[in-house]
Amino acid sequence: MLEAILLVGGRGTRLRPLTVNTPKPMLPVAGVPFTAHQIARAKAAGVTRIVLSTSYRAEVFSDYFGDGSAHGVELVYMTEDSPLGTGGAIRHAAAQLRSAPDAPVLIFNGDVLSGLDIAGLVDAWRLAQADIALYLTRVPDPRAFGLVPTDATGRVTAFLEKPTKPEEIVTDQINAGCYVFRRSLIDAIPPGRVVSVERETFPKLLAEDANLIGVVDPAYWLDLGTPAAFVEGSRDIVSGRIPSPALPGGTPGRSLVLPGARVSQDAIVAGGSAIGANAVVEAFATVDGSVVFDGATIGVGASVVSSIVGAGAVIGSHTRLNGAVVGDGAVIGAENELLSGARVWAGATLGDCTVRFSSDQD
Ligand code: GDD
Ligand code: MG
Repeated sequence: MLEAILLVGGRGTRLRPLTVNTPKPMLPVAGVPFTAHQIARAKAAGVTRIVLSTSYRAEVFSDYFGDGSAHGVELVYMTEDSPLGTGGAIRHAAAQLRSAPDAPVLIFNGDVLSGLDIAGLVDAWRLAQADIALYLTRVPDPRAFGLVPTDATGRVTAFLEKPTKPEEIVTDQINAGCYVFRRSLIDAIPPGRVVSVERETFPKLLAEDANLIGVVDPAYWLDLGTPAAFVEGSRDIVSGRIPSPALPGGTPGRSLVLPGARVSQDAIVAGGSAIGANAVVEAFATVDGSVVFDGATIGVGASVVSSIVGAGAVIGSHTRLNGAVVGDGAVIGAENELLSGARVWAGATLGDCTVRFSSDQD
C-alpha cells in the first residue's frame, strides 16, 4: 500500500470568478476536473489510497469522486472547518492515514500539473534514508514560489517561501509541490492550528538538522493557479505535450470535444482547446487554445483565443476574447472585445457593442 494526501483546500482566488462556484482543483482541465488528472497520475505510480484534504466547498469533490472506486483508488476525505494552511491540513489529514510511522507518504499540492517520476521520488527518499524528499523544478523567475537551495549531495540547505528581498533569491530551484514524508514527521506537526508547511515546518526541520533532500526533476511542470497557466495546462494535456491517463478518449489531438457538445462544421476549434459537454460552437466561430466549460455557447463568428469561458456562459456573435475569463452563466452580447486579463463576473450581463479596445496594432 502507498498512501498520498492531496491538498485541495485552497480558495483559488487568482482564478476568480471561476472559483466562486467551484474549487480550483475541480475546474475542468482537458475535459475533466484537474483532480482527476492528479489521481490518475498518482494511481499510475502505484498510489492505492488517497486522503483528499479539503476545506473550501468540500462537497464538490465527494459528489464527483465518491469512494474513488470508479478511479481505481481508495479515496477518503478530511475536511477542515476553517482552512488550516498547508501544514495544518497535512496534519489534519493524518487521522485517515494507515501507513506505519516509518513508511513513506506522498503529499501533492492540488494545482500542479507535472510529469514528475513519482515512484522515482519515493525511491530517492528510500535510498537517502531521508525524512522528507522534495520534488524541485527550475524556473526562470522563482519569486512567486518556495526557493529550495541544495548542497552538492542534494541535501536541502534552506527553504525560502516567496522571498521579497533580492539577497534571498539564492537559487532557481523551487518547491514543485510534491513531497515524500516519513509518516512520523506528519504526526509531529502541531495539530489543531494553522501551520504553513513551507514557512514553518520545513524551516524548523532544517534548523533541527533533519534529513531533507531535494530531487530536481526536469520534467514538465506548471502551477495552474492563474488563468494563463490554467489554459496552458489544459491545452498541453489535450495536445499530448504532457500525457494524462485521465484524458477523455485517451488520444491527444488538436482539440477535445466532449460528448453532447455541438460544434458547427464551419467553426474552427484548435490549439488544444477543450469544449465541455453540451456546449455549442456556432458557425464561423474560432476557439483557439481555450477552455470552454459545459453548456457554454460561442456565437456566430466569435473568436475565443487563450481564454476561459465558464459553464453556461454565452458569448455573443462576433465578440472577441483573447486572454479573457468569463464567469459561469455570464452573457456577453455581440461585437464586444475582451482582451488580456479581462474578467467578467459569474452571471453578469454585457450588452451588444459595450466593450471595445483599440490599439496601435488594430
Ligand atoms: N486543505 C487545505 N487547507 N489545502 C490548502 C490550504 C488549506 O488551508 N491552503 C492551501 N491549500 C492547498 C491548495 O489548494 C493548493 O493545492 C496547495 O495547498 C498549495 O496552495 P497554493 O495556494 O496553490 O500555494 P502556492 O501556489 O502559492 O505555493 C505553493 O506551491 C508552489 C508550487 O506550485 C507552495 O508550496 C510553494 O512553495 C510552491 O513553490
Ligand atoms: Mg499553487
